[in-house]
Amino acid sequence: MKLDAVEYYLKFYTQALRDKPAPDNPFVLWYIDAFAGTGMRAADQVEGGLFDGTPSEIKTVRLAGSATRALQVDPPFKRFVFIEERPDFCVALETLKRDHPDRSIECKQGDANLILPKLFGSPPWVGRKKWGSPSHRAVVFLDPYNLVEWSTLECLAQTKAVDLWFLYPIASVLRQAARSYEAVDAKKAAYLDRAFGTAAWRTELYKPETQAPLLEDLGTRNERVDRSEVEAYVKRRLETLFPYVSQPLPLLMPAGAQLFSLFFAAANPSPPAVALARRCIKDLLNNYGRPASHRRSGRQ
Ligand SMILES: C[S@@+](CC[C@H](N)C(=O)[O-])C[C@H]1O[C@@H](n2cnc3c(N)ncnc32)[C@H](O)[C@@H]1O
Repeated sequence: MKLDAVEYYLKFYTQALRDKPAPDNPFVLWYIDAFAGTGMRAADQVEGGLFDGTPSEIKTVRLAGSATRALQVDPPFKRFVFIEERPDFCVALETLKRDHPDRSIECKQGDANLILPKLFGSPPWVGRKKWGSPSHRAVVFLDPYNLVEWSTLECLAQTKAVDLWFLYPIASVLRQAARSYEAVDAKKAAYLDRAFGTAAWRTELYKPETQAPLLEDLGTRNERVDRSEVEAYVKRRLETLFPYVSQPLPLLMPAGAQLFSLFFAAANPSPPAVALARRCIKDLLNNYGRPASHRRSGRQ
């Protein structure tokens, strides 16, 4: 489901910017997958059932991952960058590159939190643009299992040329932000400082206990706000960097637990760019918003 939503946007994006800003000098469009995996992914699928006349069973199948899907978008992106920490996964990405000789693909092995600032700190993203040379725009997809450093998000926002899809690991953040503030040890606090880029989460996410405390506890316990308020705080934090941030699309695992929230953020502050993004996200939320996400979705 998450990949359906991102793919929907990618198609919309390359189509909408096809001849922009001018047909004879269009943008160079990049797709950057910063936690790319292998290009393929495993997913559970229900097979058989009443209409097939066979008992239904759950089978694990291999489906196209985000990098493969992005390569199939038409009109195509001009440049692709796939970043992956695991060397064995990079080997698979190199195979994907060889399978698409007609596409300009770069595979980079390493930590996306180091590679993205380096990439966006180099030409064509910084420096003087030669007269008549095309401008560059990118969609960046962040699909981590874990932490994305706040400084990485800052560097994406500073480009003013990136549209970001961020599969925010809300469950991982909630594991660090324990229910009771007293249980947030130094390691968890350091994680949250890096994820939120501020120390303010201590007062934004923790409030005095709502239930009447025992006399001896008076004024001592602070409890974390609930998941939806943490999600709202993530959105407010992203809004300090990006001119437009969508409502999160909640993604449910088969058992119903919400492990991720899919955010869209646009770095380009120009009103037409923001209006275009808003329009597409509105359509998308209608198609992939909460009721639809209750379908068996996994991390697709
Ligand atoms: C959820 S998977 C990505 C799945 C992929 N988007 C897909 O649709 O197939 C996350 C990937 O990020 C990689 N990873 C984890 N930490 C990383 C980091 N700091 N930098 C780059 N890659 C990282 C993991 O090895 C893993 O392959």
